[in-house]
Amino acid sequence: MMLIYLCFCSQVLLQGEIYEIEGNIFRLKINEAAPLRARYEVPDVLIKEPTTQKLSLSQKEGGVLVLTSVNEDYKLRVTANPFQVELQFKDETVLSMNSNGLLYFEHLQPPPSDRYSLWQEKFGSFLDIKAHGPSSVGMDFSLHGFDHLYGIPQHTESLLLKNTSDGDAYRLYNLDIFGHKIHDKIGIYGSVPLLIAHKPDRTLGIFWLNSSETLVDINTKAVPEVRLQRAVPLTDVRWMSESGIIDVFLLMGPTAFDIFRQFAQLTGTQALPPLFSLGYHQCRWNYEDEQDVKAVDAGFDEHDIPYDVIWLDIEHTDGKRYFTWDKKKFQNPKRMQELLRKKKRKLVVIVDPHIKADPMYTLYSQGKEKGYFVKDRNGKDFEGICWPGSSYYLDFTNPEVRKWYADQFAFKTYKGSTNILFVWNDMNEPSVFKGAELTMQKDAVHYNNWEHRELHNLYGFYQQMATAEGLIKRSSGKERPFVLTRSFFAGSQKYGAVWTGDNTAEWGYLKISIPMLLTISMAGISFCGADVGGFIGDPEPELLVRWYQAGAYQPFFRGHSNMKSKRREPWLFGEKNTQIIREAIRERYVLLPYLYTLFYRAHTEAEPVMRPLWIEFPEKLETFGVEDEYMLGKPVWLGVQYSPYSMFLCLILEDAISLDSICCVSQACAVGELYLDDGHSFQYLHKKQFLFRKFTFHKNILSSSCTDESGQYRTTCVVERVIFLGLGQQPTLVTACSKGNEPTFILLHLVILILLHSYVYIWHI
Ligand code: GLC
Repeated sequence: MMLIYLCFCSQVLLQGEIYEIEGNIFRLKINEAAPLRARYEVPDVLIKEPTTQKLSLSQKEGGVLVLTSVNEDYKLRVTANPFQVELQFKDETVLSMNSNGLLYFEHLQPPPSDRYSLWQEKFGSFLDIKAHGPSSVGMDFSLHGFDHLYGIPQHTESLLLKNTSDGDAYRLYNLDIFGHKIHDKIGIYGSVPLLIAHKPDRTLGIFWLNSSETLVDINTKAVPEVRLQRAVPLTDVRWMSESGIIDVFLLMGPTAFDIFRQFAQLTGTQALPPLFSLGYHQCRWNYEDEQDVKAVDAGFDEHDIPYDVIWLDIEHTDGKRYFTWDKKKFQNPKRMQELLRKKKRKLVVIVDPHIKADPMYTLYSQGKEKGYFVKDRNGKDFEGICWPGSSYYLDFTNPEVRKWYADQFAFKTYKGSTNILFVWNDMNEPSVFKGAELTMQKDAVHYNNWEHRELHNLYGFYQQMATAEGLIKRSSGKERPFVLTRSFFAGSQKYGAVWTGDNTAEWGYLKISIPMLLTISMAGISFCGADVGGFIGDPEPELLVRWYQAGAYQPFFRGHSNMKSKRREPWLFGEKNTQIIREAIRERYVLLPYLYTLFYRAHTEAEPVMRPLWIEFPEKLETFGVEDEYMLGKPVWLGVQYSPYSMFLCLILEDAISLDSICCVSQACAVGELYLDDGHSFQYLHKKQFLFRKFTFHKNILSSSCTDESGQYRTTCVVERVIFLGLGQQPTLVTACSKGNEPTFILLHLVILILLHSYVYIWHI
C-alpha cells in the first residue's frame, strides 16, 4: 500500500491510499485525513479484505512517484501537482485518473448558522435535512483507446453505454418506477457500480464502491496520437456520488473473463441455484386461492406443459402481513404444498420489507419493541405507506435485525410453510408510496446512526441476504435457498436471482430485455430474467408467444402479469399458440442440464451464463454493439473448416433429470462439459458430491473424462444416446469402450443417428 496526502482546495487534507491487489487489480481509496466524523465506507459487499501486494517505488523526483506492480507489467505514475494517477501497462497509458481535474471531496464541516444553507434541500414538497452537511465525492477517469463501454446496471438502455455530454448522466439510485420508460438513464430498482470498457486487445473495469446516489457521465472523443499519426478514441468517465468516500477498484483484465473473475474475487460469485429454479415459473398477481392454484397446476398437466414453480403474490397474505396467509382463500396452505410436492413442484411466496402498522401483528410488535425499524430524522420509527397502508421498514443494515428476520423463516415460526416454499423479495428499493421519488427520505436514520442517503442502494441487497440466510437456516444449513429480489447491488449474486421489474406488454420491452439482462449478467448477476409477457397490460398473442420463445433462453424464466391484466396461462390463446409455447418451454427443459452446467461455471469461475457476443469474440469489432443476439455459454467450436455438413454431436443421458451436452464436431475436435449433482443441497460443496465431466471428440473418438477429480457422485444417469448429424457417409465400424472402474457414469448403449441427405440411419449397440 502506498499512502499519499493530498491537499485539496487548500482547505482539507485528503488521504489517498493506493494498493495493488492480487490478480491484476488496483485500488485507490481517498478519504479526509481527519474528518469531523467517520465517513461511510460500504460494508458487507467485499467478501473479504482483499489480499494486497507490495507496490515498489521505482522513481521519486520532482513531484512524481512511480510505483511498479509485483509482476512489473504495470506502473502507476502519481503526480503531485495537480494530483493525477496514470496507470501504464508496459509503458502504454491505459487509464488516467483526475486528468480532467474533476476530483472533488466535500469535506465535513461544523453546522452553519444559516439554516438556508446547503445543509438542507427541497425536493418537491419534501425537505431533506442533511444531518452532517453536504459530503459529495467525485472523480474523473480517462480510458485511453477505449470507445466501447458497458455495465452500470440498471437502466432501460442499450448494451453499449451512450455519450451523456448532451443529455442525462446514468443514474444509480434504486427506485420503484411503475411503467418505466424505455431508453432512459434514470435509475430503476437495482444498481451495480461496475463499468466495463473494451477495445480489441484489452478489457478493463472500474468498480466504484459507493452505495449513495451516484451519477456517471460518459464522453467519448477522438484525440490525435502523434506516434501513430492518427486520431485514437479516448473516453472520459466521471463518477459523482452524494456521499461516502472514494473507493475505487481498477480491474485490469486483460480479458473480459478476467474482469468477471476479478469482480467476483471482490464481491463473490453467483450462488449455485437449486435445479428446480432453472425451470419455468408461473406467476401472477394474483393466483386467488387454493382452488385457483390447484386449477392452474392441473392446467399444466392437462396441456402437457412442463413447469416447476407456482408463485403467490401479495394477496395470499392476511391483509399484506407477510409470513401469514389469508385464512379464507388459503385455508390449508400445507395441503396445497403437499399437492405440489407430489408432483415435485415448488411454491414461491412474496415477502416484502415493509411491515404493516398493526399491534396485533407479531412482526410489527416485535420490530417496534426491539427498535428494529429505520428511524426518521427525529428519532421516531420511519412511517411510510406501502401495500398494507401505514407501514414501517425493517432496518436490514443491522446484523441483529437480519438474524431475527432470518429466524422468521423457521418452519415452526412461519406457520403453513414447508420446505417446498421459497421466497420473493419485492418493493425493497425500498418503495415508499408518497415518498420522495417513491422511496425513503434520505435523512432517515439506520443502524449506527448512518443516514439513509449513505446506503440507499444497499437496502434490497441486505433484505435478500437475510432472506437467503433464513432459508438456509431453516434447513439446518443443508439446502440451497431460492430468493428472487427486485432491488440489488454489487454482490447480490451471492444471494439468488433478480428480475427487471415492472415491464410492459409491448414489443419494445421484449427487445430491451436482452441488453438489460446482458448488462446485469456482466455485472456479476447471472441469475436474471424479465417478466415473460410483460407485467403491465395485455400482450397480443404473438407477443406472448415470442416472449416465451425469448424467455426460454434467459437465465430466470418466469411468466408474470399484473392484477389488471387478463389471465394469460399458456393455454388461453388457442391450440396453435399453446403448441408453440409448449415447445418453447420444452426446449428450456431440454437445455436444463446445459444451463445448470453454465451456472456451475458462473458459481466457480464467475463466467456469465448469458453473455454478449463481444466477450467471446473480443477482437471482432462488428460484435461490440450486438444486443439482439447473445450466447449461453461458449461458442460452438466448428473446427478448421465450417461446412453445412459439419457433424453435430449430441449426448443424451437418460434420467428424471435427463442430460444433454451439445458438442459440435468437425474434422478437428469438439469439447463439451456436464456438471451434475443432487440439484438442491450443499453436499456438492461440503462433501464434494458432484460430477464434472468433459466430453471430447477428437480424431473420430468420443471420450469422457473428469474435469474435477475431487468430485464423486453416484447417479442413475446414463449416456443413452450419441447423435451425429450430417456425417458424410455411413461409418463401417463403431466401437464402444468403457474404462473399468468408473461405475458412476456408464455408457449404456450408443445410438448413432446419421443424417445423410434425407436418410436417417440408426445403430443400436
Ligand atoms: C410490484 C412488483 C410486481 C408485483 C406487485 C405486487 O409491482 O414489481 O412484480 O406483482 O408489486 O406485489
